[in-house]
Amino acid sequence: MVETERIREIIAGYPRDRRYALAAMQDMQRTFNYIPEEGLSLLADHLGCSQAQLYSMATFYKALSLTPKGKHIIKICNGTACHIRGSMNLKTGLQRELGIEPGETSEDGLFSVEFVNCLGSCALAPVMLVDGVYHNKLKLEDVPGIVEHYRNEDGEQDA
Ligand code: FES
Repeated sequence: MVETERIREIIAGYPRDRRYALAAMQDMQRTFNYIPEEGLSLLADHLGCSQAQLYSMATFYKALSLTPKGKHIIKICNGTACHIRGSMNLKTGLQRELGIEPGETSEDGLFSVEFVNCLGSCALAPVMLVDGVYHNKLKLEDVPGIVEHYRNEDGEQDA
């Protein structure tokens, strides 16, 4: 299976030393957008540590995920300014468009939605971050167009 081969390649790039556990997991996270369970077990064998140790490390670091994430990560700011100016509308808009709640990933694997704390752009509230790009002063009716934009982008890449 392609994923297993890729996992083996990543792991082979690291010395058999536990100090490299985090770097190897970050590498898997970048490659797959999450750390597959198989990745944890093969890495544990490689480093000579228990899978439980790697598991607790993976759950400790926020940047690591043990569940598959969508290709596009949508972060809805739920800081005070954004909350007051309608971040819940953005949540509603995304529920309608994607059928998912914050913390979930769409069935087609394209989108994950998360709530986050202040993104440091309060004057432009409410703010949503998609793959690191800010979308500011959003209204409920802006949400379908944004989702469509990222869907089309993927369609063009697949064509
Ligand atoms: S509260 Fe949303 S950017 Fe500050």
